[in-house]
Amino acid sequence: MCGIVGYIGAQNAYPILIKALKRLEYRGYDSAGVALISDNQQLNVYKTKGKVSDLEVFAAQKDISGTIGIAHTRWATHGEPCQANAHPHYSESENLAIIHNGIIENYAVLKEKLQEKGYTFKSSTDTEVLVQLIEYIKVSHNLDLLTSVQLALHEVIGAYAIAILNRNNPDEIIVARKSSPLVIGIGKDEYFIASDATPIVEYTDKVVYLEDGEIAVIHRGQELKIVTQDNIAVNPTINTIELNLGQLEKGGYPHFMLKEIFEQPDCIHDCMRGRINIEGTDIALSAIIDHKEKLLHAKRFIIVACGTSWHAALIGKYLIEKFCRFPVEVEYASEFRYRNPVINPGDVVIAISQSGETADTLAAVEEAKNKGAFIYGICNAVGSSIPRATHTGSYIHVGPEIGVASTKAFTGQVTVLTMLALTLAREKNSIGNEEFRQVVHELSTIPEKMKKVLEKNDSIANLSQIFTYAHNFIYLGRGFNYPVALEGALKLKEISYIHAEGYPAAEMKHGPIALIDTEMPVVVVATHNNQYEKIISNIQEIKARKGKVIALVTEGDTTIKNIADFCIELPKTIPCLDPLITTIPLQLLAYHIAICKGKDVDQPRNLAKSVTVE
Ligand code: F6R
Repeated sequence: MCGIVGYIGAQNAYPILIKALKRLEYRGYDSAGVALISDNQQLNVYKTKGKVSDLEVFAAQKDISGTIGIAHTRWATHGEPCQANAHPHYSESENLAIIHNGIIENYAVLKEKLQEKGYTFKSSTDTEVLVQLIEYIKVSHNLDLLTSVQLALHEVIGAYAIAILNRNNPDEIIVARKSSPLVIGIGKDEYFIASDATPIVEYTDKVVYLEDGEIAVIHRGQELKIVTQDNIAVNPTINTIELNLGQLEKGGYPHFMLKEIFEQPDCIHDCMRGRINIEGTDIALSAIIDHKEKLLHAKRFIIVACGTSWHAALIGKYLIEKFCRFPVEVEYASEFRYRNPVINPGDVVIAISQSGETADTLAAVEEAKNKGAFIYGICNAVGSSIPRATHTGSYIHVGPEIGVASTKAFTGQVTVLTMLALTLAREKNSIGNEEFRQVVHELSTIPEKMKKVLEKNDSIANLSQIFTYAHNFIYLGRGFNYPVALEGALKLKEISYIHAEGYPAAEMKHGPIALIDTEMPVVVVATHNNQYEKIISNIQEIKARKGKVIALVTEGDTTIKNIADFCIELPKTIPCLDPLITTIPLQLLAYHIAICKGKDVDQPRNLAKSVTVE
């Protein structure tokens, strides 16, 4: 949801900024721009509609000199994607340039005020209002840039991570953050700025995560200075990041999404490492052990999340209810936060987020925390905002997810939720020893079974070619496979733009069955479990109406093979772990259909990876 980057040091800024933008392009890719203070002290701004590669073409042959600069890749909020609305934005005097990730909610009022003072605007963005406001305060009160930024931010309502360049001070960048992420990398006599650590890792592993309300003055050759909006000095906490560059490359795969699908056996192994013992007989999730009393005395669990993470949350509900016998509610974070939800003492809120930055999930965490709930985070991005806002939590440790459609994060979230439910159940004595051992053992075999599923890649690619004609798809599943159906449908629609809906299989006859005709592909997750007979009946109902059934079945199934049009056979596991197996062919199906249709799977239209606006 917009990526911002910056550089100040001894090297040429432009190539560093372009490379950094490419690493952050998953956050938005409808336009891109760069501002540099050139060697002869010009403030050069180049921006264009399109991707970072379009910016490179646009800036070719132009003056790209300078050792200080900021750059932006955009996911439009205010104003259509076009050159005028692309960042950086100039102030009226063209002395200041700004890049911004977030939303200025009261921009209309501020704009009106500035227009009355004679300011004119070149774009329809909220960001241009902010840079004009900063300049207005600076000029009208004859203040330095830091003070002007502090005063301007006092007038602003909304979310922002911003970086500002001043033509008259080629040795300084000022950055500020509220509710949108911002990381500063500290190199040798150089600083890097980015929305997350991924563009910084190849230069330094030392970073400072700016906190809400903080402003950093990044001055060439000087120590990093951080102050609050009220000018109180803050001591920067320097963190060491543990990312390796290979995790940020495609590693021979044509797309990040395919790479991330294929990484799942290793990711799930890493996710369980140190948590399940080598023999596969015991689990210890340290956050559960450390907060045992709080969690064991929970009156209720509420899981908040968005999108794919919400689907994982639904599986979490089934797992915690089954093994721990706690009541669990699953909420869309965006609904929960605005509803004035009832939170009672003893409620535990679990927040699930791959990025750890989703604005609605973060706000739901704050809302629940203010109301006295104990908050447990399940995130992937280490050091991101949600884990820092929670009381405790568990990382999923699946490595950076760069493809916009979430894949390995989903299976990582489900794995952590399984370990959470099992650890809690054992502490609560709500699971028998035998069952505990059986599930833990089965969980430890999942990475090997995932590898077997991935061997089906070629046959799923062939199958996908048949369905490029479809304008609609239905996905059905029961029990633990119902959220898998939702996730399969979401994957297909977001990368192939084919309309798809997921339903609990039994719900089909309450309406969606009317959609079924000879054209309608129906994906049925029909592995062998206690609802197997029921799902066979659902398949019969579809076939009776001449729908095309693609069934996911357990290896050796002959019954469904005789009824369905196409079958994908999957290794057998126990029903509660089914999602870790059945999700993978649906990810591959969506991927290959999108590829057959010539879509950009890693950067699907209108989407962005990290949704830091509401
Ligand atoms: C779908 C997808 C989104 C995210 C959602 C929440 O493939 O990626 O639906 O799951 O935007 O994001 P996080 O998990 O980062 O909070």
